[in-house]
Parts: sequence; structure tokens; C-alpha cells
Amino acid sequence: MTTRVLTGINTTGTLHIGNYVGAIRPCIQASHRKDVQGFYFLADLHALIKCQDPDRIERSRLQIAATWLAAGLDPDHVIFYRQSDIPEIPLLCWMLTCCTAKGQMNRAHAYKAALDANVENAEDPDAGISMGLYSYPILMAADILMFNAHQVPVGKDQIQHLEMARDVATRFNFLYADENNPFFVMPEAVVDETHDVLPGLDGRKMSKSYNNVIPLFEGGEKALKEAIAAIKTDSKLPGEPKDPDSTSLTAIYEAFSTPEEYQDFRARLQNGLGWGDAKKELFEKINAEIGPMRQKYDDFMKHPEKIEEILQEGARKAREIAVPFMNRMRRAVGLRNFAQFGQTQTKTAEKKKVALPIFKQYREDGKFFFKLVAADGSTLLQSAAFDSGKDAGMTVVALKRNGFSGQEATTGEGVDAATVNAALEALRAAEEEKKLSK
Ligand code: TRP
Repeated sequence: MTTRVLTGINTTGTLHIGNYVGAIRPCIQASHRKDVQGFYFLADLHALIKCQDPDRIERSRLQIAATWLAAGLDPDHVIFYRQSDIPEIPLLCWMLTCCTAKGQMNRAHAYKAALDANVENAEDPDAGISMGLYSYPILMAADILMFNAHQVPVGKDQIQHLEMARDVATRFNFLYADENNPFFVMPEAVVDETHDVLPGLDGRKMSKSYNNVIPLFEGGEKALKEAIAAIKTDSKLPGEPKDPDSTSLTAIYEAFSTPEEYQDFRARLQNGLGWGDAKKELFEKINAEIGPMRQKYDDFMKHPEKIEEILQEGARKAREIAVPFMNRMRRAVGLRNFAQFGQTQTKTAEKKKVALPIFKQYREDGKFFFKLVAADGSTLLQSAAFDSGKDAGMTVVALKRNGFSGQEATTGEGVDAATVNAALEALRAAEEEKKLSK
């Protein structure tokens, strides 16, 4: 089974090389893995929580989309989309909201921090806190669960959000799904320890709030050069031995060089390399890596319609998954199509009289098999041999959940795929019916 990896990208502000080294570069490297299905999206509904300036929202999401594409995200290999292009996400968010305990949201870090700050400043505890901020973790859970992601690469500060996503997934499964056919898998946070570590101009963590950043693409080479010139060093002269750890310059150099180059750089500083020359070298190193990307970035920024096309295609692929999944969930919670509801009722009523098809699992010569047998005893599906009973069982679960695509097993004599799917639908409806009457 392929692992689904999903990550959301905040679309506020512009990016600096700390974001590039800590998040963008590792994520893009991971996105090339063949055994993984990657979902990368612009969390632009989340952006509305922090920013109510429409022009900034518009600019920022374009810049950030251009950055990821320029940095090498391959939209043919991963699904790259905007959260706001998938209406199933806010719909799922609402379904999840309705089964999330308010008390749990009271404990969310971001909300609590805002609350504590208000109390400290002798303000109304809820001053300036929107429902968007309060419900932030539920929207994030919807992002993740909509695509049943197994792994979610995030910063440490997001671990609690993943715990909340698992809790709400469990609750939804418990309320609406069959024990052996849950809607959601439990997502795991994947925390990269190198996240957030790049120091800024003054040695503190590189962050816009400290005003100590080196911009990634904005401002071009000139801005890059100027920022590097502003990295703090002591005032030792060329020729004087220097302590490589006395400045953030070396740590930034390390992020853009091989271990050998880095050791050599340190040794040369100890032997008197001047700060000016060291900064020039750092500029060359960074620019060699991001210069070609900057060109692509500028190109994309001149042609927003190209980005639009890529993201529309991403949304199409994402909705290929989201729409049928949402239909299942709508049925499960009771938001059903009335015309079909009538049919479903009659069908289930009829089925009560008619015996349902059944899955039979069995073992032969050390191998594992399953069959789908119609009520009259005829074979609808016959599986190939599996090495483990678990694999056979998982295929049965997938068939029940997703229907028959023609590949999972061979159809019985004179049986077509539509007949198999009708039988599977009947099983599913009967199971749902059973749950409802519990
Ligand atoms: N909250 C995340 C952050 O601040 C961004 C995000 C939104 C996200 N939805 C997500 C990350 C879903 C992973 C999965 O970084």
C-alpha cells in the first residue's frame, strides 16, 4: 500500500531562507519518493484567520505557490492544490465540528496562548479571538482526514493538532462507521528535528518577528547580498584568527554546503579568512542553489495564469478523491439524496426478504483466498492466492468500502462488474441499515 503524506502550507507573508532550509527543501526532497503519494496544499482558508486584507491574501498565496513550484515541487508527481478549491473540506470541517467537544478545543495551544495574553493584559479573555482561531484545529483535521493521510510532516508546534485530528477521527468513526470499515485512518505527525533551526542575522532563530531574516526570492540578488552583509560578526580584521562559532554566518553556510566544504570553511576562518570574503563566499553558495529557482520564480510571478492552471488541475485530482468520499460520509451522517433515499428504502426492504451475498475467506495449500458468493450460491468474485490472511482480509475491506474496479479479483462465469458492484452496494446498505437501527 502506498503511504499518503500530506502537508499544508500557510499562505501568510513572504518566505525567507529559514523556511526554505527548514521546511520547503526537505518536503520537496521527500516529494520525489516513488513509494509515497504526496498531497501539498496552500492552507488559504486558514490564512483568513490571521489576515483580513484581501490584497495581501491574494499576493501571498500566489507568491507561496510560485515558491514551491520554483523550488522543485513536481505537480505531476504530487497533488498540489488550494484548500479553498476543495469545498468538501469545509463541509467535512462542519461534520467534524459537530462531533468535537468544546472542552477539547479550550485546550488548544494557539487559543490558550491568545486567552492567556488577554488575561495578562487585563483585557476581556476573549478579546480579538475569532471563532476561526478557536476552531483552527478542526479545519486542520478536515484537511488531513479528507485524504486519509498516514503521515503529516509538521513543526513541533503542530503535534497537538495531530492528536486532536486523531481524536475527532476516532469519534466520527465510532459514531458513523462500521467497526471493521472505518472512514478514517489515524494520521501520524512526522516531526523533522532540523525544522526551524536556522539562525538569523543576529544569531537568534531566523524569524520575521525578530526582523533578522534573509529573504528567499523577494528583492532578488541585491536583497540577498544586502542581508548577508548585515550578518553580525565581531570586528576582527582579515588575517586574524576567527572563532567560526561566534556568528550565525557559519551555520547558514553549513545549510548550503557539503560537510567537507563546511569543515574547510571553518578551518579557513580559523586561519584568518576575512569576514568580507566569508560573506562573499556565503552569497555565492546560496545563490548557486537558489539563483536558478529565483529565475523560475520570477517567471511564474509574471504568469500567474500558469500557476492557476496547475492548481486547477491539482484541485481536479484532489476532488477525484474528495467527492466520492464525501458522498459516502453524507450518506453515513444522514444527508442523503431524497430520490435515492426512496430507492434505498425499497431496496433494503426487499433485501430483508432476500438473503444477501457473502464474503467467504478460506485457506488452501498454505495460501489465502476469498470469494464473494451470491445468495443463490453462485460465485460473483474469486480472488487470486494471497500469502497472508491479512492481505486477503484487507482486500475484502477495500472492496466493501470502495467497490470493485475490475482488478481485485476475477468475476464468476457470466458475471459482470456492474453485478458485483450492485451486490457490494447491497452489502454496504445492509450494514448501514443495521447500524442505524442499533
Ligand atoms: N497549521 C499548519 C502550520 O501552521 C498548517 C496546516 C494547515 C497544516 N492545515 C494543515 C499542516 C494540515 C499539515 C496538515 O504549519
